[in-house]
Amino acid sequence: MSIRHFLRDDDLSPAEQAEVLALASELKRNPFARRPLEGPRGVGVIFEKNSTRTRFSFEMGIAQLGGHAVVVDGRTTQLGREETLADTGRVLSRYVDAIVWRTFEQVRLDEMSSAATVPVVNALSNEFHPCQVLADLLTLTERKGELRGRSLAYFGDGANNMAHSLLLGGVTAGLNVTIAAPPGFEPLDWVLEAARKRAAETGASVAVTNDPVAAATGADALVTDAWTSMGQEDDGLDRVGPFRPFQVNGELLAHAAPDAVVLHCLPAHRGEEITDEVIDGAHSVVWDEAENRLHAQKALLAWLLERRP
Ligand code: CP
Ligand code: NVA
Repeated sequence: MSIRHFLRDDDLSPAEQAEVLALASELKRNPFARRPLEGPRGVGVIFEKNSTRTRFSFEMGIAQLGGHAVVVDGRTTQLGREETLADTGRVLSRYVDAIVWRTFEQVRLDEMSSAATVPVVNALSNEFHPCQVLADLLTLTERKGELRGRSLAYFGDGANNMAHSLLLGGVTAGLNVTIAAPPGFEPLDWVLEAARKRAAETGASVAVTNDPVAAATGADALVTDAWTSMGQEDDGLDRVGPFRPFQVNGELLAHAAPDAVVLHCLPAHRGEEITDEVIDGAHSVVWDEAENRLHAQKALLAWLLERRP
């Protein structure tokens, strides 16, 4: 058995994702049922970008699993200097039982995980945010039950980490996923290809459109995210004008299924990608979604640690 990492959503098979989500529900009911980090054993939690939810939920979750979180700003470590990612992975593996890392390019996670001898978890990269999508799927399951055959529509930057993770993680759960994005902001081809491959296994579907109303029509879940992700502030692209028709507002929500739910990973930019009326309204499940980061990540860590060789 080799070490299991969680770097992108399709690192879990459909059956494995279902196991993690079931454990997350169990841990939500009984927060101290699993103590795989009793000792305490350590988990390194490293941030190269800002965070509120990920930082708090991992630190508390690791404590509830019996462990100790070493939470560091990556910019204060030797990561920002000449030490290679592989060497860092080798060294950290001698101190901690898992590494949770928020970073920039996905290849950085690939490089560290190739040398680490403990599980590496992606706490957000430019390309994927798989821990968030586990929480999103837990939230949707709580509201909708079985997700197979349900439809999820995402509005905004189709090439960002949330759009990509919703594609891969969503079809893994059997959701029919539609990405509605302005021209030029569609998902990257290689992610679409991976999502279509996974969808073929689960019977789900993948669609991309520039028409927000078509995407919203009849959808069971509407999801949005920041128009400008961390690190894109100076990319020279107009990340406001082309996005306005993709705002999740009352008018767009009126096209969705009558009992549709609205998700947002947060932080929200109220008045940009989502209106106050919607995020504070009856269809919004964003606070449960934020809470579920804790339960989903505890389940993921417990699941990965149980599969150590
Ligand atoms: N959704 C999310 O990852 O939030 P933070 O950036 O606050 O961790
Ligand atoms: N797409 C956003 C998600 C923040 C949790 C970003 O990367 O900044």
